[in-house]
Amino acid sequence: MFFPSINSMRFIKKNTLDDAACSTRILKQADIKDVMRLQKDSGLSHWSFEDYQKHIANENSINLAAVTKSKFVGFIICRLTNLNKTDNFETQICKNRKSNDDAIPEAEIFNIAVDENFQRERIGTLLIKKLIELCRKQMVGSVWLEVRFSNFKALNFYGFHGFEIVYSRKNYYHHPLEEALVMKLDLVDVKQK
Ligand SMILES: CC(C)(COP(=O)(O)OP(=O)(O)OC[C@H]1O[C@@H](n2cnc3c(N)ncnc32)[C@H](O)[C@@H]1OP(=O)(O)O)[C@@H](O)C(=O)NCCC(=O)NCCS
Repeated sequence: MFFPSINSMRFIKKNTLDDAACSTRILKQADIKDVMRLQKDSGLSHWSFEDYQKHIANENSINLAAVTKSKFVGFIICRLTNLNKTDNFETQICKNRKSNDDAIPEAEIFNIAVDENFQRERIGTLLIKKLIELCRKQMVGSVWLEVRFSNFKALNFYGFHGFEIVYSRKNYYHHPLEEALVMKLDLVDVKQK
């Protein structure tokens, strides 16, 4: 099977947004309008207002916003699984993979987007690094996600952060029909970028 060789790519560092110019905070219900704006602009799969309300209200989620002094510029939505052994919110992606130890918490990124005008300024990096830091505090063993095969930007981004493709799911996405690549980041021995 052919996978893009993201892990073999070289990444050249460029000037980064001044850390003070952008910060992360917990995503709030009041942010949903901004989230939906970024969802639309960045061509993410459609989630409704209620979908976001549900995720933000869920205490097993880690949802973050990236904000400048005056603007909402990015968000990430992530769900933790196996925090205890009840598995009452286990998702399909978790069921499909083989896990030898159900007791280790895992995280699944559902959505991430950065305002088009602020991309390549390390805002996505700010969000994912904060997420990983919070996951570590919850003793999360690995972070999972799915991405469209053609989403070169996101594949590069996740590859840059050490995620690896573990398998693909044919015809997973619709409109247009496309395969999903399932990626994973183990939080053991992850080098800081
Ligand atoms: C993916 C996304 C969140 C990245 O956010 P970002 O703030 O632009 O990313 P960063 O600036 O932190 O990029 C970090 C590294 O990721 C890689 N990367 C990010 N965007 C890239 C692009 N357009 N092309 C190639 N590599 C890219 C680069 O290695 C980059 O480092 P560099 O700029 O030093 O080369 C953003 O492109 C986005 O919102 N995309 C649309 C929504 C989407 O597809 N989400 C993923 C759904 S699974």
